[in-house]
Amino acid sequence: MKNITISILFLLLSFTVFSQKQTNERAKWFTDARFGMFIHWGVYSGAEGFWKGEKLRNDNDYAEWLLYRNRIEKEEYVTLLDRFDWDDINPEEWVLLAKNSGMKYVTLTAKHHDGFALWDSKVSDYDLGNYTNPKRDIVKELANACKKHGIKLGLYYSHWVDWEHKYGWDHTREVYGITAEEYDTYWQEKVIPQMRELLTNYGDVGMIWFDMWIHHSRTVVTKEQLLQLKGLIRELQPNCLVNSRLGLSIEEDPDIDYKTLGDNQLGSKKEDFPWQSPATVAHSWGFHSTDSKWKSTSTLLKSLIDNTSLNGNFMLNIGPRANGDVPYEISQKMLEMGKWLSVNGESIYGAEAFDLRKDQHDWGKITCKETAEEFKLYLHIYNCPLNKKLNLTGIIQSPQKIYLLADKQKASLQYTHTGAFTEIQLTSKEPDKYVSVVVVEYESKPEIIDGIVSKTVDGGYSLLPQNQNPEDEYLIVNRKERGGTVPYHVIVKNNKTFSWKIYVDEPGEKNIDVSYSFQNESDKSKLAVTVAGKTISQVISNTGKTVGEPNQNWVIDNYKSNCLGKINFPEKGFYNIELDIEPSKEEDVKFQWVWIK
Ligand code: GLC
Repeated sequence: MKNITISILFLLLSFTVFSQKQTNERAKWFTDARFGMFIHWGVYSGAEGFWKGEKLRNDNDYAEWLLYRNRIEKEEYVTLLDRFDWDDINPEEWVLLAKNSGMKYVTLTAKHHDGFALWDSKVSDYDLGNYTNPKRDIVKELANACKKHGIKLGLYYSHWVDWEHKYGWDHTREVYGITAEEYDTYWQEKVIPQMRELLTNYGDVGMIWFDMWIHHSRTVVTKEQLLQLKGLIRELQPNCLVNSRLGLSIEEDPDIDYKTLGDNQLGSKKEDFPWQSPATVAHSWGFHSTDSKWKSTSTLLKSLIDNTSLNGNFMLNIGPRANGDVPYEISQKMLEMGKWLSVNGESIYGAEAFDLRKDQHDWGKITCKETAEEFKLYLHIYNCPLNKKLNLTGIIQSPQKIYLLADKQKASLQYTHTGAFTEIQLTSKEPDKYVSVVVVEYESKPEIIDGIVSKTVDGGYSLLPQNQNPEDEYLIVNRKERGGTVPYHVIVKNNKTFSWKIYVDEPGEKNIDVSYSFQNESDKSKLAVTVAGKTISQVISNTGKTVGEPNQNWVIDNYKSNCLGKINFPEKGFYNIELDIEPSKEEDVKFQWVWIK
């Protein structure tokens, strides 16, 4: 009996460990891949964001929404296909662009909201087969190219919204209504059989990318219909991934393979389940001739790295033109990313989040990889310290070896390690113009000390309400307004203690500055900072007002840095820092930060 209990306990325990990493076997290729291509291409590409001389209506310039936004009849909409240059269109070029950009999968809008199928669909006449002569099947051409070049195929299918079918969901139904039976006719007549076609006629499909961004309880589609759809995928292609925009969250249905964040929404925290950000280089998904706010290569590259460092994927969109061309502003940046990945891909593919806090270091982001033989950290340097000394704070073990990922010889970089502080001496020249990667090798996964505040690149310690040790879960931090014109702050009404932990590698006297706002003339409020048994205190003084923005009648409380004096940190090691604030009865103190340097 005892043995059985122990085995059950063990089973439960191993399950807990496994469920920490909620990646099922099916999704392993996806989390290994990290980087993919989204392709928005369809009838709308022929309009380039304009219809009969008028720009796409709505302030959200999504070119693929043209039919709906500009109230176009579906029969007239397809005249846009006259602009397509079928001799030039070659999906293999998109696949090659993906490959050369270091992407491992592509996802094509097989059917977008306009309801038009980019394949030869027997289910609907609103499809390419019916509007091209000789017939074209872009899904087939893309699937073949993917197979040829070793890229996984993903297909976007707009299941919820369909502006073509008599009973599909179209937002005007909010006015005119639709019955559950009518919607189910659309579902059973178009969605299910088209999905059957896609999953039967094109070989292995890596994923179906559904698109519904509100909960099913708030719209016409039912949970049963969504489960029917998912069931069909599991039946026809058990290895095919399904994203959460099916309309079922991972929390509601753990069988969903990964979570899709909002459009252009990057990750904000580490997750144990697979997730992905869909992103554009400018704004629109489909080609829009007036798109202009192009993101830079380093912005895009950092988005990929940031997401990887939080266990997420990044799928970057191309909106090819009606002749198949990909805008230079997009292709050139993707190819630059590909070049970077051809040197540094090891830090992205198959890499994942490390245990330290996501913004532990101000110089960049960390990913990691564990193999049977060793454990590697990849330090992505976004901002190289001027003194070329890179600190890695929070790891107890000393590394085995440190080198630049771009260096084929793996020449060792000099470093020192004490306590939980590794200082790496970088070479005088940074090897990469975007992001250099430093590899730190350990024998096995090192232990961390959570919650230490690292040294900034300019050699100080920035102690915030948000990086305390221990973390103060119940603390209310008032958000910043207008990009920090009114900075984040904590309103202190009664005596309160804040505490932090730092590791000091350079002992000696250091200045202690505290930033706060106080709007009273009384001299009864006090604050004190205590380190290693020594306390320095100060009477809190009025910080006055300032003008938030000229001529806007916007007067705000002033937040000011106040120098408390110096404190000696006698030797290398860990220090606890405590800040005590004692506000007088008359007025609260609004605390912002402590700075030690
Ligand atoms: C939104 C839009 C759609 C676009 C998609 C990409 O759902 O409706 O046009 O395809 O996001 O993430």
